[in-house]
Amino acid sequence: MNLTHIEHLGIAVKSIEACLPYYEGVLGLKCYNIEEVADQKVKTAFFKVGQTKIELLEPTSEDSTIAKFIANKGEGIHHIAFATDSVTEALADAAEKGIRLIDTAPRGGAEGLQIAFLHPKSTCSVLTELCEDPNK
Ligand code: CO
Repeated sequence: MNLTHIEHLGIAVKSIEACLPYYEGVLGLKCYNIEEVADQKVKTAFFKVGQTKIELLEPTSEDSTIAKFIANKGEGIHHIAFATDSVTEALADAAEKGIRLIDTAPRGGAEGLQIAFLHPKSTCSVLTELCEDPNK
C-alpha cells in the first residue's frame, strides 16, 4: 500500500480538559478542533505538529471502545493512523496479504476523513488506522 505520512496518533485520555494544560501550555500546541464522533462514542481534540496530528480520544460512554481500552490498559497511545491516497485500495492490499480487517470498507471519521482500521492481531499489536482525505 502507498502510505504518505503519519496522519495522526490517537491517544486515549479520561479527560481532554485535564490534558489541555500539558499539550497547550507545555508542548505549545494549539487545540484547533474538538468534536464528538457519535458512532464511536468519543470526544476528540486535535493538535497539529507539522503535517501530523495528535488526536486525544475521550470516551463519552461507558461502553465506548475507548472506555474499555482505558479500563484494560490505562490512558496512553491507542492507535497510529497513516495517510494514504486510497483507503479502499489499501484495505484490498491488506486483505490480500492476510491481514485481519476491522473495517472492510472505508467509513466516515473525524475531520471529514474516510477511515478504516486494521486489527491489532495482524499488525504487531498496534491498532492501525488508514485515512484518506476526500477533499485532496
Ligand atoms: Co484516529
